[in-house]
Amino acid sequence: MTKKKFTVTSALPYANGPLHIGHIAGAYLPADIFVRYQKLKGNDVVFICGSDEHGAAITLRAKKDGVNPKEIVDKYHKINKQAFKDFGINFSIYHRTSSDLHHETAKDFFLELNSNNGFTKKVNKQFFDEENNQFLADRYIIGTCPKCGHDHAYGDQCEKCGTALSPDELINPKSTLSGKRPIKKETTHWYLPMQDHENWLKDWIVKGILDGENHHDPKNWKNQVLGQCKSWIDGGLKERAMTRDLDWGVEVPVNGENGKVLYVWMDAPIGYISATKQWAADNNKNWEDYWKNNSSELIHFIGKDNIVFHCIIFPILLKLNKNFNLPTNVPANEFLNLEGEKLSTSRNWAIWLHEYLEEFKGQEDALRYTLCATAPENKDTDFTWADFQARNNNELVAIFGNFINRVVVLTNKYWDGIVPEKSNLEKYDKEVIDSLSKYPDLIGEKIEKYKFKEALQELMKLARLGNKYLADTEPWKLKKINEKRTETIINISLQIAASLSILSEPFLPFTSKKLKGILNVSDLTWQSASTENLNAGSKINKSTLLFSKIEDEIIANQILKLKS
Ligand code: 2FM
Ligand code: ZN
Repeated sequence: MTKKKFTVTSALPYANGPLHIGHIAGAYLPADIFVRYQKLKGNDVVFICGSDEHGAAITLRAKKDGVNPKEIVDKYHKINKQAFKDFGINFSIYHRTSSDLHHETAKDFFLELNSNNGFTKKVNKQFFDEENNQFLADRYIIGTCPKCGHDHAYGDQCEKCGTALSPDELINPKSTLSGKRPIKKETTHWYLPMQDHENWLKDWIVKGILDGENHHDPKNWKNQVLGQCKSWIDGGLKERAMTRDLDWGVEVPVNGENGKVLYVWMDAPIGYISATKQWAADNNKNWEDYWKNNSSELIHFIGKDNIVFHCIIFPILLKLNKNFNLPTNVPANEFLNLEGEKLSTSRNWAIWLHEYLEEFKGQEDALRYTLCATAPENKDTDFTWADFQARNNNELVAIFGNFINRVVVLTNKYWDGIVPEKSNLEKYDKEVIDSLSKYPDLIGEKIEKYKFKEALQELMKLARLGNKYLADTEPWKLKKINEKRTETIINISLQIAASLSILSEPFLPFTSKKLKGILNVSDLTWQSASTENLNAGSKINKSTLLFSKIEDEIIANQILKLKS
């Protein structure tokens, strides 16, 4: 089989605060599952992420805290990088948009587009806060969304309905600095005439055709992603400024232009490219193999509020820069709610990843499991602590953990940890072996379609199959009557356990590692999970706890903490 190349990106989180479960369920866990799977399949994958350190999200936070923006990004870059690592999100690199390499890359990108006549330079009037002597764009200005009526829409986007906006569209605009109504003042900016790109964008997104060739199958794109893109294009694309009057960001690399930086939504996605460059330099690779000439598939994992930037604006920028690949898919997720309410940083209505990791040491997979099982793949979903407890106790502990524990304990008790021989297969054994052989494809096909929930359900079906096989054949009773038959049952059960150790890796990497340690297996490929991986006569180790029960008290405390 020829190796495929993938460039997988997860939205660069703003380094202005810690990560919560909504972020994880949206853009990071699904990407990590996809990447781990593709690697197990033997494909060549680079998995890119890093901190988005520019834009008003950062400067406003710094202002609020009365500190320099640099202090904010340094602090949260470190916290978030560590939290991702501890949660097993296995990025190839976690880069920063404040790095010199990124600034250089973004400036070159801008200059290339400028020389290709990609922008229109124009003077026009923009909102200006006289009290603070500052132009107001993006999050510096709020008002009522003209689409949904939300009264806290930002100058670049309404976070309630996802509509991208320009400050002029806001009803009743107000400065977020002074709270006052701003005046209009002249300034020069570089605009991206998005309307000039409507035709090819439509062909590319709606029909999957790019430059007259088949590019991707739109049937593989999520409905909500196609829907948002279509409504954007049908609504008529407009020009959008790619520069801002700010002193924090990537400076506009044009002589004589002071106090202007690139629009953060131009700068941040270029961060995917600069991160790849850094990773390639560190690993003796060629970054262009992952970005140019269709040598690699580009896939962006994001939340739904980022769709327009990844499906329309960044693709225009990539296409204008020649030879860059456009994404073959942008599997955006919807939003995750918490206990029936929208996650909110300001109201502290969230489960913070770094806090979970502190409080639930060794139980990373319990959260990965629940977030995958309740992922907002096609609609907004709800995380509740009760559901988390039930999934951990009734599924991970009672099904997966119980099966592994039974088979490992029996092997150690009766055969001193030596894998027994199998012989004289009965019809039931053959059926079980036959079902087992189908799981790598069953799970893999779902992952390739970005249906991670269903993929996880298939994985649990395999654990259930193992449990049922043991419950039906009762080897612990049979041992005294028919030793040979018991050995066959244990051998087959151990093969199921070994397959589970491989197939669980994308979803439950910590468990997979522990299980591989118990079974003494390593470096197995995805496809090997369809056959036997434990030879008779080989030795396994003692059972260690894969999952532990979460008591009511722990859950009650978490709910209390949330509401306090
Ligand atoms: O919405 C956000 O959190 C942005 N920081 C995502 C940026 S994604 C990409 F463009 F880098
Ligand atoms: Zn709105």
